Amino acid sequence: MKVIPLPLWVGGGRGGFILIAPNYKGIIKRYREFLPEIDDKHIITILEGNTPLIKSRNIHKIINPGVDIYFKYEGLNPTCSFKDRGMTMAVSKAVSEGSKAVICASTGNTSASASAYAARAGIKSFVLIPEGKIAAGKLSQALVHGSIVMQIRGNFDEALVIAREIAGDYDVTLVNSVNPYRLEGQKTASFEIVDELGFAPDYHMLPVGNAGNITAYWNGYTEYFKAGKGGKLPKMLGFQAEGSAPIVLNHIVKEPHTVATAIRIGNPASWQKAVAARDESGGLIEAVSDEDILKAYSMLASNEGIFCEPASAITLAGLIKLNERAFFKKGDVCVLTLTGHGLKDPGNAIKVSKEPIIVPCDKHSVLKVMGLA
Ligand SMILES: Cc1ncc(COP(=O)(O)O)c(C=O)c1O
Repeated sequence: MKVIPLPLWVGGGRGGFILIAPNYKGIIKRYREFLPEIDDKHIITILEGNTPLIKSRNIHKIINPGVDIYFKYEGLNPTCSFKDRGMTMAVSKAVSEGSKAVICASTGNTSASASAYAARAGIKSFVLIPEGKIAAGKLSQALVHGSIVMQIRGNFDEALVIAREIAGDYDVTLVNSVNPYRLEGQKTASFEIVDELGFAPDYHMLPVGNAGNITAYWNGYTEYFKAGKGGKLPKMLGFQAEGSAPIVLNHIVKEPHTVATAIRIGNPASWQKAVAARDESGGLIEAVSDEDILKAYSMLASNEGIFCEPASAITLAGLIKLNERAFFKKGDVCVLTLTGHGLKDPGNAIKVSKEPIIVPCDKHSVLKVMGLA
């Protein structure tokens, strides 16, 4: 059972009142008035959303004690990434329109989410992934949910071209973030943040790959603001990996590379929308090195107990980089979206961590390693 903040504060006092939500029914029912219409009978949900907004306990002290840092931990969605918010909407709409199959190109998480929601809907799913370039956990999800998984000898951008063409020519629904319902669902994360904080943050930080999520968050904040919620609009800060930074470089990257495979994208489909989100909000999109991404990834796990993907940790790496040039002022509130769970790629965690210590099977040897003997 999850815990959500009361939508209306009883007696006031930020953070003071919480409600156990035995009847939580997923993002579509929670935020229906802000989403495209859909009949109850067509809603395909695995109770996505309602993810925790975790206040930094330790990292903010190391980086800048004057700044409030919150992590929106999207790795706690049903398939362990933010994609589920968009997928509940896209698959529900596909089902309502009579579609019997979905297709996507994916760096991994979209395929995991599409496969799960298609399984729940009882329709087929087809997945195109770049060969050898997706984390094992994500591949295992697509396979176990029963998708037809095709590894393309090419990159994500090339796979997306094929998926778009097939969806254009055949009766198969494309569920990449170019499907507008995906962004509709994903914008609900902004609603949750405003509902929980009681106001919009000063800065919102996101990884940028295909650039759908930063677009969705910005749409969410602006729609909520127009509805009188949030009090202000945040500045959107997006981050790309240095080897896959087309928006920062202002040109397509033919052979993108980065340790953060989820954002290994050289020609983002929502490029112009992300630029609009950046400019309208007065934010920025910058590049971060793989080395800094991995440092932030370890830092989150070892200082906050939060295990996320390298792509997600780029937000913290970006915050650190900006803080080094005195970007923030005292009292600023920053929200960082941690887009996916670290368990998607345990191999990476093992690679960047200390090896386990092999110890003889006796108490004294164990005590010696513990420094107690
Ligand atoms: C974990 C993770 N973070 C970030 C992104 C980037 O999101 P977007 O493609 O919407 O920019 C993705 C996309 O696959 C992802 O899987």
